Parts: sequence; structure tokens; C-alpha cells
Amino acid sequence: MEDEEKTKEQLLTELSELRQRIAELETLEVKRKQAEDAMRQSENEYRTIFETTGTATIIIEEDTTISLANMEFERLSGYSKEEVEGKKRWTDFVANKDDLDRMKDYHNTRRIYPDAAPRNYEYKFMDRAGGVRDIFATIAVIPGTKRSVGSFLDITERKQAEEVLMESEQRFRDLVESSLTGICIIQDSRIVYQNKKQLKLRVPLGESLKLMDFRGIHPDDVEKVKQFYQGIISREVRSLGTDFRFYPEGKIDTEENMKWVYCQASLIKYQGKDSVLVNMMDMTKSKELERLLMMQEKMSSLGRVAAGIAHEIRNPLSGINIYLSTLQKIYDRADSLDKVKGIIGQLQSASGKIESVIRRVMDFSKPGEPKFVPTNINQPIEEALQLSSVTLRKSKIKLEKELSEDLPLCNADPHLIEEVILNLITNAAEAMKGIEVDKKIEVTSFMRNKHILVKVSDSGPGVRSDLKGKIFDPFYTTKAANTGIGLSLSHRVVTDHGGALSVGTSKWGGAEFIIEIPLEKETA
Ligand SMILES: Nc1ncnc2c1ncn2[C@@H]1O[C@H](COP(=O)(O)OP(=O)(O)OP(=O)(O)O)[C@@H](O)[C@H]1O
Ligand SMILES: [Mg+2]
Repeated sequence: MEDEEKTKEQLLTELSELRQRIAELETLEVKRKQAEDAMRQSENEYRTIFETTGTATIIIEEDTTISLANMEFERLSGYSKEEVEGKKRWTDFVANKDDLDRMKDYHNTRRIYPDAAPRNYEYKFMDRAGGVRDIFATIAVIPGTKRSVGSFLDITERKQAEEVLMESEQRFRDLVESSLTGICIIQDSRIVYQNKKQLKLRVPLGESLKLMDFRGIHPDDVEKVKQFYQGIISREVRSLGTDFRFYPEGKIDTEENMKWVYCQASLIKYQGKDSVLVNMMDMTKSKELERLLMMQEKMSSLGRVAAGIAHEIRNPLSGINIYLSTLQKIYDRADSLDKVKGIIGQLQSASGKIESVIRRVMDFSKPGEPKFVPTNINQPIEEALQLSSVTLRKSKIKLEKELSEDLPLCNADPHLIEEVILNLITNAAEAMKGIEVDKKIEVTSFMRNKHILVKVSDSGPGVRSDLKGKIFDPFYTTKAANTGIGLSLSHRVVTDHGGALSVGTSKWGGAEFIIEIPLEKETA
């Protein structure tokens, strides 16, 4: 009985305990359900994120198998998820071996030291059809696992655009580098770029334009260059240009070294900064040509005037001479008046001189067409030396000659060339008139660059550099009794041969005249 009662009591307790347990279990079940829901939801969320990142993304196992791939990856690779997940390895999608070796290395390193391998890199991806794409990859190990997430951005188009841009930039660079004009870029008054031609020109631009350093600039052009610099620095003018003379860096300031440039500046953007682009063109040759042309022009017009004068004077003058000789004959018969004879003699010599001057003037205006024949230039040289040898000996001038023996023939008029050389020798002798000792003239002939060169050097006082241009002008002379025709005539003869006549300084410090005759006369 007691047992029964106890059992009942006990049963009640057990029942209540059981109810409590059930209640507890129910709560647990709800919680589990809730957790499960939450879990499913979060997994859904991650799935969604995974699917909608917009980038091809995969989960990679330690053994390189791809365990998960998204739709973008399907699109990129050309395989379906089913064909990829658990079946393909990321290594199946690498196009070249170099990339593969490098990436395998990263794969392994990353699993030991996650930060030791680069997170981002570029490589060539290969799709199902064998098509190759440029990929920007981002790979990271999932914390606490040996798995990694990889996402792959297709940058093929961007790369191609970059390449096209690089190519066009390279083309532009090549163009600038091989340009025949000097190009330099100035930023904040400093030169930041110069092309090859600009370096070759060696224009003395100085450290900074602001320092206004005009060393090496021709003194007469300093003001021009100063204004040019100021224009660049102030950037006031959108485009400005000027020409100036300079002596290339590393060369001494002499007439021979002087060069002309024309430069033009304009504003540009260079590497994102406001800059000034300066173009420089070597004008030395064209300026020289311009000068020669002007000289020729001057000469031909002077020549025409001279011809007119000569024509007008020559006839009456020969009349005078005829009358004078008639007068002399009459006087001879009369056999008296000594003084008159003397005067007539002087008259004759004076008018004779006038006539000879006129002849030279006429020669100048119309030297006659040169008659070109194949000539060994040494022959007219020898003739000229022969003709002047007596005069030179009398004036105690030592003559040195060095004529190249194997000169080729050139097309020349030997008589005119002989005259030119005689002119030069006469000038040299006249220049050394006042000097007592060490009077020397050297005549040499040799070949250089398809030209035959003849040099007449002396040990006289030389020609001052500011007079080097003037001495070739017709009628320019420093001698009381001369006409100043010799050099202009010689110059004309040499240019008629297609050559050039120039003056420099001889090894003795005197004058050195150089005749240059081309082997093949340009027929222009
Ligand atoms: N070898 C030289 N050394 C120094 N000065 C020279 C020399 N040759 C020419 N000159 C200068 O050049 C000037 C012009 O020479 P150019 O031969 O044309 O005329 P010129 O000798 O004065 O007269 P012309 O030749 O008509 O008799 C000379 O007056 C002289 O001042
Ligand atoms: Mg002379």
C-alpha cells in the first residue's frame, strides 16, 4: 500500500520532471531550428555574395582542386559549375608555364605563411576553347583553413588599350628622338628633356634660365636671348621665336666655331605639368648661304655699275693715249723742251694705270665664261709660283710648297685658277712688306672629302676676324695704291667652279686662304 502511494507520489514527481524536460527539449528544438534558419540564411547570404561579386570567384582546396565556382567563373572559363567543382584544378586554367611555376610557388607559400605570397598579381588565363585572357588575380587564404578564395578580373581590354597607348607613346618618342630639329622641354626654368639633336647642337643654355647666364652667346645677340628667356620664364607669350648666334659648349669663341640657331618656344603640358617646349633649328649653313648670296648679289650689281663706268671711260681714255703718243712723236722731232717730255711721260703712265684699273674692273663685271678642262690643279699652281718667284726672291720671302702628287684631275679653268693663286701670293707678299725677318709663304695642295684644296699661307700679320667678311667685298682695300679687286675677283672665279674661297689663320699666325674645288661640279 505504502509502496503504491509512494509510487503515485513518485509518479507525479516524475511526471512533472518529464514535463519540464519536454518543455526544455521544446525550447531547445526551437533554438536549434532558429539557429538552423539563421545558418541557412547566412549561408544563403554568403552564396548570394559569392554569386554576385561581379568577379569570377572560386574556392581552392589545398590540393589545388576547385571546390566552389560562381557564375562569373563559368562565363570566364566556359565550363559549368558541375564540370568544375571538385573536378578541375586552378592549374588547368593557366596559359603559360612561367606563370604556372610562379603561381604554384605562391599557392604553397601562402598556406605556410599567408602573408608571404602576393595577394595580387597578373597572369594569362586559358579558357575552355584555348582562348587566352589577361587576368588580375586576388587570392587570400580563408583564416583557420588551408583553403583559399581566388577572384579573377578580366583586364584583357584594358591591357590592350594600355599596349596601344604605350606603342603610340613609343612611336612619338622615337619621332622626337630622331627629329632633325633640336627639342628640349623646360619646366620651372630648368631643362628636363633634350633630344639627341639638341644635345648635339650644344647650345649653351645654362643651369637655369633664371640665372640669365649668357656665356657662349654671341655678344650682339645677348639682348634677344634675354628677352626670349624672359618670355619663357614669365610664360606670357603663347608662342615666341628668335634666332641667335652662339659658340657650342666646349669650343672657343671664334668665328669658325660660331653657329646660328632659330628657336621657337610654345607652352605644353609635359608629365602633367605646365612646361615650355623649345624647338631649335641649326641655321648655320643657311645663314652662310644667305650671306654668300647677298655678297654675290652685291657683287653682280656692283659689277653692272662698274661695267657701265668702264664702258663710258675706256673710249675717251684710249683717245687720250693716242693723242699723247702723237704729241710725243711731234716733240721728239722738235728736239727740245725737256720738261714737257717728263710731264708727258707721267701723263702716259697715269693714263696707262687708269686703263689697267678699268680693265680689272671690267674683268670683274664680266670675267668671261670659264673654260673648264680636266686639270691637275698643281699645274696652274706651278705656273703661278714660276711667275712670282723673282718678286718673292727680291722681297726675301721664303717659299715652301707641298703639292700632293696623286691628285685626281678636276674640271677647272687653269688660267683663271692661276690668276687666283697669283692674287693670293701677291696679297701675301704685300702683307709682309713692312716685316724684315722670317717672311714665309707656303702653298699646299691636297684632297679632302671629294674636294681639291689649295692653301696659301703666310707669316704676315693675318686678317683681323672682324675684317674676314669684308676683305672679299669689291673695292675693299687697306692699301693706298690698290683697287681692292683681287680677292673679290678670286672669290668669283672659285664660286664659278662650284667651290669656295675662305680665310683663316695660318700656322705662323698669318693669313691662310683656302681654295676648295669639288671634284664633281654640281650642275645647278
Ligand atoms: N695675306 C693677307 N694678309 C693680310 N691681309 C690681307 C691678305 N690678303 C688680303 N688682305 C687684306 O684684304 C684686302 C683686300 O684684298 P684684295 O686682294 O681684294 O685687294 P688689294 O690687294 O687691297 O687690292 P688689289 O688686289 O686690287 O690690288 C687687302 O687690302 C688687305 O687688307
Ligand atoms: Mg690683292
